[in-house]
Amino acid sequence: MPSERGPKPHPPWVVTSAAAIDTELGVVKTGKEADVHLVERAIPADPADPLDPPTGGPGRSVLLAAKRYRDAATSDFHRSGRYQEGRRMRNTRDSRAVKRGSSYGRQVSAGRWAYAEFETLSRLFLLGLPVPYPVQVQGTELLMEFIGDGVEAAPRLAQARLTEDELADCFVQVTDAMRALARAGLAHGDLSAYNLLVHHGRVVVIDLPQVVDVVGNPGGMEFLQRDCVNVCEWFTRRGHECDADELFGELVAELFG
Ligand SMILES: Nc1ncnc2c1ncn2[C@@H]1O[C@H](COP(=O)(O)OP(=O)(O)OP(=O)(O)O)[C@@H](O)[C@H]1O
Ligand SMILES: [Mg+2]
Repeated sequence: MPSERGPKPHPPWVVTSAAAIDTELGVVKTGKEADVHLVERAIPADPADPLDPPTGGPGRSVLLAAKRYRDAATSDFHRSGRYQEGRRMRNTRDSRAVKRGSSYGRQVSAGRWAYAEFETLSRLFLLGLPVPYPVQVQGTELLMEFIGDGVEAAPRLAQARLTEDELADCFVQVTDAMRALARAGLAHGDLSAYNLLVHHGRVVVIDLPQVVDVVGNPGGMEFLQRDCVNVCEWFTRRGHECDADELFGELVAELFG
């Protein structure tokens, strides 16, 4: 299976050593199209590792989120079709297998989503957007920075307990991220309070396999507008009033600005 590593320079906490040992710690969440697992990646003591204490240290470990896409046959994949318009598959053998729906073809489909999400995370991370650092992709599994405290995942915006001021601050962060995406010509495509994490007051955008090229995709504007409506309806329901049309107008200005 082809694999890829995250963008350089690596954040200092990333463990890339070939001696690393991954241990499954459990399931973070099972979703419709993918399951997210918690994985500990540990390396033995290494004097060459700047983060490892001097010789004789215990080595170190880091927690990662492993998002494993399910085989398209067992997942209820809603993201196909329109999201994919304007994207091409590299290899005709793969595209034939996907069309036929063979088990190899279904693996290819699941792997394509893992790759698409990995590539988007890499691009957005380099643009400075608040997304988990993508550590590695291999086959149908994407390994990324785990957003949380210890083994406790950060709450999704939908579940976070926030004061009025914190809610207002989250709105600014979410719309700043949407503006940055728009400047890159993109819309999240499935933005909601379930695909945003809140970690110590910082909003992190997740679940990005279906990011939409707003200009290149014939339905791009509709996706952008739907993201605006989802976000504004949620914030308004929670007591932070905002206007989806106004936000949409601002993002369109960013797109062509
Ligand atoms: N990097 C991460 N750090 C911590 N928790 C994460 C991370 N990525 C995902 N999660 C958790 O796993 C859940 C599912 O992740 P994600 O939304 O990417 O997958 P999904 O299969 O699309 O799920 P769904 O179908 O529920 O939208 C998230 O809502 C979040 O609670
Ligand atoms: Mg999700």
